[in-house]
Amino acid sequence: MLTSTDPDYPCFHLAPARGRLNDPNGLVVADGVYHAFFQYGPGFPQDKLVHWGHASSEDLVHWRHHRPAIYPDSWYDRCGAYSGGAIVHDGDVWFHYTGNVKTDAGERESYQCLVTSSDLVTFVKDADNPLIAGPPPGYTAHFRDPQVVAEGDHWRMCIGAQRDDLTGCVLVYHSHDLRAWDLVGELELPDADGRFDSFGYMWECPNLLRIPDEVTGKYWDVLIFCPQGVGPIGDSFRNIFPCGYIIGEWDGRALRGAGEFVELDHGFEFYAPQTFARAGHEDAAPVLLGWLGNASEDDQPSLSEHGWVHTLSVPRRLTVRDGRLRQRIAAPDLDPSSATTAQRLAVAGSTMRDCAVEIAELTDQRSFVLDLEVDQSAASGWQLQLASGASEVTCHFEKGRLTVDRSATRYPHGGTRTISVPGDDRLRVQLVHDRSVTELFVGDGQAVFSLRSYLEPGEFTVSVATSGTLAVGSAAAITVS
Ligand code: FRU
Repeated sequence: MLTSTDPDYPCFHLAPARGRLNDPNGLVVADGVYHAFFQYGPGFPQDKLVHWGHASSEDLVHWRHHRPAIYPDSWYDRCGAYSGGAIVHDGDVWFHYTGNVKTDAGERESYQCLVTSSDLVTFVKDADNPLIAGPPPGYTAHFRDPQVVAEGDHWRMCIGAQRDDLTGCVLVYHSHDLRAWDLVGELELPDADGRFDSFGYMWECPNLLRIPDEVTGKYWDVLIFCPQGVGPIGDSFRNIFPCGYIIGEWDGRALRGAGEFVELDHGFEFYAPQTFARAGHEDAAPVLLGWLGNASEDDQPSLSEHGWVHTLSVPRRLTVRDGRLRQRIAAPDLDPSSATTAQRLAVAGSTMRDCAVEIAELTDQRSFVLDLEVDQSAASGWQLQLASGASEVTCHFEKGRLTVDRSATRYPHGGTRTISVPGDDRLRVQLVHDRSVTELFVGDGQAVFSLRSYLEPGEFTVSVATSGTLAVGSAAAITVS
């Protein structure tokens, strides 16, 4: 299989050359290079055994693939080297991950394990593995996805867990040497009036992060996690498993003042995000990658036609503003407001009345970022449309609502979805499109919607259409090949 001959294979989203990719793992910046590891089934679909795949990038645009970093070849990870994180310590990168085992009797066992690397070429499984040989009493073997960070005079590990009563939670451990871990207890949410006491049956992929408030400069503590078994709440959480965050203040044991659980990305596939660890930059706004593959089936055209499936998102810089996360494109070369390669579009500065205009600069460009600022105050509705052959994706904006429709594509799952977005008169929208992946950043990163967008071959067009008057302010784009 040659991904270069596959028109769906993305140019700047990280995707496997073959097999299946799921969660990003152990994201780390070392010597100025971004290393992304990820759940990787090289033999998928025949062989479902999960390794840690590895790719690196200097600009978060072009990714180079390396051989897998962790093979599930030890007794404690023989049924899968599951998700985990990375930290830089003493010049080495330390990866904590979960070893998954299914016994002959069909019982699940979960082990927290360590791999270290001094050069990110050789990865050494620790002689003390497993470091944590299973869950503490009171919890089931759904015990996985360690996140380790430095905290005061110790290291803190958060692990996704399931109580014996089949409700989800996060367990917190401490260590002074990254090998011996002591259970502290459950991560508490004392001010949430019990809202999270019985919130889903298993909390996957917890990440407790410090994120700066872009107005006050204060740092918030944000728990991002994926509580399996939580159904739709309003327009949100309509995927098979939800992914969201709670903002509060961490006191070492409890996340105080916890607000509501907010969906991180409203699209059809987003899940299991992580952020890059970077020694010496702990106070910087974190940069996140998420998995775009949260679906009950892997039945995408890329798998049947070209033997690979799923991608990660573009990198997103996280800040807090007005009690909510903001997500902005973190790769300078993918941000039309900073990239030297960005071009101003002919539509900039124009006023459209009840018409559709094709953005000619993007015709037959299947990998690009479009950045528009519009005044929508005199439009009853307007839309962005990607079209090719008989297929199309439409993004329709109307009075603070966005409806994304992919029903007329080669992967129509989910069809149409409507979410709330800022209804401001002046609205900034960035549309990232990369072959078969699309991400929308609405209202300067206030609402994000990602989706797989398998269009047909044929002439590819991007157009803006409006009912009423739409004033286009700035309009710029970057194309990538
Ligand atoms: C989330 C997840 C993790 C697990 C991994 C296995 O998508 O289920 O909880 O570690 O994927 O691949």
